[in-house]
Amino acid sequence: MKVLVVGGQSREHALAWKIAQSPLLTKLYIAPGNPGTASIAENIPYSKIPDIIAWLRTNPVDLVVIGPDNYLADGLVDEVQKLGIRAFGPTQAAAQVEWSKRYAKELMQEAGIPTATFRSFDNLSSARAYVETLVPPVVIKASGLAYGKGVVIAQSIEEANQVLSDVMEKKIFGDAGNEVVIEEYLHGREISIHAMCDGTHALLFPSSQDHKQVFDGDKGPNTGGMGTVAPLPWITDKDMADIKARIVEPLLKALRKRGTPFRGLLYPGLMMTAEGPKVIEFNARFGQPETETYMRLFESDLLEALDACARGDLTGISLTWKPGAACCVIAASKGYPGDVEKGKEIQGLGSLTDQDIVVFHVGTKQDGDRLVTNGGRVLGITATGENLRTALKKAYEALGQVSFDGMQYRRDIGAKSLTP
Ligand code: AMP
Ligand code: GLY
Repeated sequence: MKVLVVGGQSREHALAWKIAQSPLLTKLYIAPGNPGTASIAENIPYSKIPDIIAWLRTNPVDLVVIGPDNYLADGLVDEVQKLGIRAFGPTQAAAQVEWSKRYAKELMQEAGIPTATFRSFDNLSSARAYVETLVPPVVIKASGLAYGKGVVIAQSIEEANQVLSDVMEKKIFGDAGNEVVIEEYLHGREISIHAMCDGTHALLFPSSQDHKQVFDGDKGPNTGGMGTVAPLPWITDKDMADIKARIVEPLLKALRKRGTPFRGLLYPGLMMTAEGPKVIEFNARFGQPETETYMRLFESDLLEALDACARGDLTGISLTWKPGAACCVIAASKGYPGDVEKGKEIQGLGSLTDQDIVVFHVGTKQDGDRLVTNGGRVLGITATGENLRTALKKAYEALGQVSFDGMQYRRDIGAKSLTP
């Protein structure tokens, strides 16, 4: 099977790394890929949809696997299918669960899926009037895609009013803020769920957890994700069965009913509250850096599963997972998630010889024979171990051997999962 992976960060690097192990694979391309993927796939220098489609016309593949959300929102799956090529990922219509928070909330309400109570507004004065009736903290979300940054938790009504004018008038999140969702603050522990879906059936991955804030102790601004662990020792089989029956399956049913079945990877972000799991958001794609951790534990043939999903029939597929645990710790540039300086030489990767360590590239660039930083998040250092404690220990030992000017990383990834 010839496969094209679309994307160029560590999520796609991890997917490519796993697909490359499949006996079904004959040729692997990745667009645009990164220096880390160059040794396992052929990097194709395109990242815009028209360029990718033009390339596919002359280089037909059997399956296209799409990583980032913006391609799904812009309809890449639909375009690929028009060429008669299978695509892993939801159509633009089914991906609306991610690209419109308002749509997702209405769908959840209709399907009886547990989530924070909410109201949506496209008018500033009505939004303000509603906020005046609430008890803080107040959660304000730009409805559209805002690169993971469109959520503000206001600690007072004054702050909430300020945020509303920043988002709806000053458009700090661009057009994503034309409409806002204002919702109840959920208390609890946040987890990530991944489910491979063929429109009807769902196969759940083990539970995992991202660490979104940039600093230890969940301090500082939110980022794209600073590290992940899986599986979570404090999530039970019953919790997972509950999540499947009360959240994933009702969503698939609701989307089928609307004539837009969801085929691809459904990633609900959940809060485990005193009343059980509640949905914070639905993503229509693999998480980053959840995928980096998951791929280290994934034992079955990923390509076979992705292709079955893209064909719309997961019956006959079961996912098996390696015993033990895995983690991913992100090494980021100084200043991330704000502006960063790029082009810092990365050293020490060659000295990592432990078989349990795999490094996926988030933002790197080849500069002659030097590997240099090329973004806010730079590397995802993953490790496996017989349990979470050993996996984390190995990942942090590896981080101690890698360096670049201004490198920062969280020292407490997974720490809260080590104590009950
Ligand atoms: P989102 O982009 O919707 O995942 O939101 C970003 C982050 O804001 C989430 O990962 C949560 O940590 C937090 N968050 C979002 N909605 C809520 C909520 N209703 N209650 C508490 N925290 C929330
Ligand atoms: N783990 C955060 C995200 O993929 O959105």
